[in-house]
Amino acid sequence: MSNLFALSYGDVSLRVVRPRDAKNLERLVLSNREWLRPWEATNPHGPTSFDFKAQIKALLRQMEANEGLPFLIFYKDEMVGQLNVANILHGSVSSCVIGYWVIPQVAGRGITPTAVALVMDYIYNFVGLHRVEIAIRPENKASIRVVEKLGLRLEGVKKNFIHINNDWRDHNIYALTSEEVSEGVLNRWLKSGK
Ligand SMILES: CC(C)(COP(=O)(O)OP(=O)(O)OC[C@H]1O[C@@H](n2cnc3c(N)ncnc32)[C@H](O)[C@@H]1OP(=O)(O)O)[C@@H](O)C(=O)NCCC(=O)NCCS
Repeated sequence: MSNLFALSYGDVSLRVVRPRDAKNLERLVLSNREWLRPWEATNPHGPTSFDFKAQIKALLRQMEANEGLPFLIFYKDEMVGQLNVANILHGSVSSCVIGYWVIPQVAGRGITPTAVALVMDYIYNFVGLHRVEIAIRPENKASIRVVEKLGLRLEGVKKNFIHINNDWRDHNIYALTSEEVSEGVLNRWLKSGK
């Protein structure tokens, strides 16, 4: 898959992260610690690494192995967040998980649902996956709104599922399979007016 391909709708676009994005990404993440900390995965065995070059290289290795798709989110051509597709499984499971964040300065403009919808449509139509899953802490009302807008189903709660902000946290599991949204995720959301 080309490192250069991009997805866009209106003022929102995504492209695959590059090693030279490390400095900008570091600036965005480190200047928004309070905003991200309650929702950000941490390392249960020690301090979380902020080596962005190493993180990007690891994400690109996963992409080369067809196990992930690491996107940056742009709004009016400014980098505003990240959307990561991970745990891609092919064959009889054909599924993946999606995680995301944007900076607080652009929150509430529908950027994340637009980005998630673009990526879900890409995943169903061009990667050939069947199921997308998103795990969200029950306390994260803003993120729950994102999946509600896009019509993902709540499947249940995984207890103590992910290590976040230095403890194991319960997560709601939301999912959508391709046959549930034949008209496309972005199309359906835009038509719904949600
Ligand atoms: C969750 C998050 C990705 C949502 O992104 P977004 O682009 O703002 O999404 P939307 O514009 O659809 O807004 C979603 C909800 O956020 C809330 N919201 C709106 N403006 C907001 C603001 N300025 N600050 C905080 N929350 C706001 C509203 O409840 C909104 O729902 P509504 O449209 O029904 O009113 C973003 O808040 C974020 O990055 N948060 C920190 C990291 C995080 O939680 N990541 C997800 C982990 S699962």
